[in-house]
Amino acid sequence: MRAVVTGAAGFIGSTLVDRLLHEGHQVVAIDNLSTGLLANLDQARRTYRLNRRFTFVQNDILAPELSDIVAGCAPDVIFHLAAQVNLRASITDPQFDARNNVLGTINVLEAARKGDVKRIVYAASGGSRYGAPEQLPVHEAVRTDPISPYAVAKLAGEMYMRAYAEMYGLSQICLALANVYGPRQNPHGEAGVITVFGRALLTGDRATIYGDGSASRDYVYVDDVVDAFMRAGSAPHGTVGTYNIGTGSQVTVLEVHQLIAAALGSPASPTHIAAKSGELHAIALDTTKAHQDLGWSPRVDLVDGVGRTIEWLHGALAPELAELVGA
Ligand SMILES: NC(=O)c1ccc[n+]([C@@H]2O[C@H](COP(=O)([O-])OP(=O)(O)OC[C@H]3O[C@@H](n4cnc5c(N)ncnc54)[C@H](O)[C@@H]3O)[C@@H](O)[C@H]2O)c1
Repeated sequence: MRAVVTGAAGFIGSTLVDRLLHEGHQVVAIDNLSTGLLANLDQARRTYRLNRRFTFVQNDILAPELSDIVAGCAPDVIFHLAAQVNLRASITDPQFDARNNVLGTINVLEAARKGDVKRIVYAASGGSRYGAPEQLPVHEAVRTDPISPYAVAKLAGEMYMRAYAEMYGLSQICLALANVYGPRQNPHGEAGVITVFGRALLTGDRATIYGDGSASRDYVYVDDVVDAFMRAGSAPHGTVGTYNIGTGSQVTVLEVHQLIAAALGSPASPTHIAAKSGELHAIALDTTKAHQDLGWSPRVDLVDGVGRTIEWLHGALAPELAELVGA
């Protein structure tokens, strides 16, 4: 297939690009490099640029020329992952968040419409679309209740997907992702506790926990998420709608810390500070529908996934660790 991937230099997007190329597909990767790294696409650029299966376009999804870029490569599918992903930034600057995540998504949909693209797969937020549901794990039909600007904008993106499907017959699949973790997740960021805690413990710091650590999340490994994107990208055109992508299990932040500390043999206890506003206390996603319609299930358990992530962190932080040893 010919695929356009927006947000291609990001954590999940670049892992999807590698998988698409590995399976013989052609990829046009779009990213404005606001948080994404060109280094995440090194393997794709080294291996596939010469035979023209891989092209990187540094561009903003809000740019008017997006339609020409999409029309020029006539993709079978657009994987739309580009987004402002920082919850805190969405609270301090909701307009910036909405520009990227609402207007940006509309511009991608317009490019799909003008380019006569038949299939679009959107990275929705399963962690934020349901608010604080009464029962966990939560399934897709439960009333949505976004409680932060990020959550509102990501859900608006889903609704635009649905509207474009109704108006123009675009086949849309929204993958409502739980808390994704794995190699290439930013260890210096705000989100992604597994790489953030891993970096703290590897560099001899104490990890910081917002609140008492009893908040629980549903952690899903990035390769499993990419597998869901692959299945959605090649699903029959009649397969449309929102699908939860998670594990269904709740794991507390303290448990994650213990798991990483055990993997690294670190005795350091975490520091606790005030909980962040706009954050949920507990979430876990029911993925029965993805299993039934897409044949998808998560395969990597948390202990294995944390192990793989820590192994990657050792390499990614090597210069920082070498400096610490030398200091
Ligand atoms: N990581 C998670 O746990 C998680 C959970 C639910 C949903 N999602 C969604 O998955 C997608 C990917 O998230 P990620 O964790 O890989 O984040 P990421 O920040 O690593 O990737 C996002 C990418 O989009 C790019 N980008 C941002 N704004 C852009 C713009 N205006 N034009 C072009 N490129 C732009 C960034 O440079 C970055 O490379 C996002 O849509 C996010 O909302 C992620």
